[in-house]
Amino acid sequence: MTTAIIGVGNVGSPLARHLVGGGESVVLTAKDEARAEGLAEELGPLARAASVEDAIEGADAVVFAVWLDTIKELLAKDARLLEDKVVVDPSNPLGFDESGQMIRTLPDDQSAGSVVAALLPAGAHYVKAFGTLGADALASAANREPRPAVLFYATDDDVAATTIERLIHAAGFEPLKLGGVAEAGRIEMPGGDLHQFGLNGALLDLDEARATLAAAGAPT
Ligand SMILES: NC(=O)c1ccc[n+]([C@@H]2O[C@H](COP(=O)([O-])OP(=O)(O)OC[C@H]3O[C@@H](n4cnc5c(N)ncnc54)[C@H](OP(=O)(O)O)[C@@H]3O)[C@@H](O)[C@H]2O)c1
Repeated sequence: MTTAIIGVGNVGSPLARHLVGGGESVVLTAKDEARAEGLAEELGPLARAASVEDAIEGADAVVFAVWLDTIKELLAKDARLLEDKVVVDPSNPLGFDESGQMIRTLPDDQSAGSVVAALLPAGAHYVKAFGTLGADALASAANREPRPAVLFYATDDDVAATTIERLIHAAGFEPLKLGGVAEAGRIEMPGGDLHQFGLNGALLDLDEARATLAAAGAPT
């Protein structure tokens, strides 16, 4: 199995590092191809760099580790390439106003996940995942001992669920399904009650995460 990671910034870069550490093959892309090439070289034989189109075509799963507006731009061009692929979306409905302040870019009742899922071809396997922690925690909390940290995910698709469980384990975390795409906003920021920032920065283990879900009455 090969996973394309589109974007090697705060999220894509540690994710690539963790997946390679867990034995997964990755193909990396960035706006500046030299950046993807540099990281691929550093990560060794399980990693290579490619253009966005080549990366998607050669992958079984595609992680869009880019800003929501960039995902929309890329999908306007390349959505057809995602037929039969697992599409992993860590995005948040975030942007910046004229003074550089971070702002929510979608109405409160609309998730970035619902926007991305609606732009995919019918045969793509969508899952919201890998955006549930701040980038620093994603980078530092892999393979936590003795109890791994949980990464929640949301999907309506069994193929996507099987694949994301494999990738979350490989990355050194414990997967836990929150529910379907309708629940995606709960693991986005701002406002997601199960995003790390909605949990006051906590990194939950599996028992704590299950108890939190049960207390919230969420479908699992
Ligand atoms: N940062 C966080 O704490 C955090 C946490 C959870 C979720 N997220 C979400 O994760 C996503 C990525 O955030 P980030 O903080 O990792 O962003 P980032 O550090 O700004 O990285 C964005 C990456 O996207 C690449 N990129 C931009 N346009 C591209 C294009 N057209 N084709 C290919 N690659 C392109 C950039 O390439 P270059 O390297 O060449 O510039 C860069 O590597 C966002 O949706 C964000 O909301 C972020």
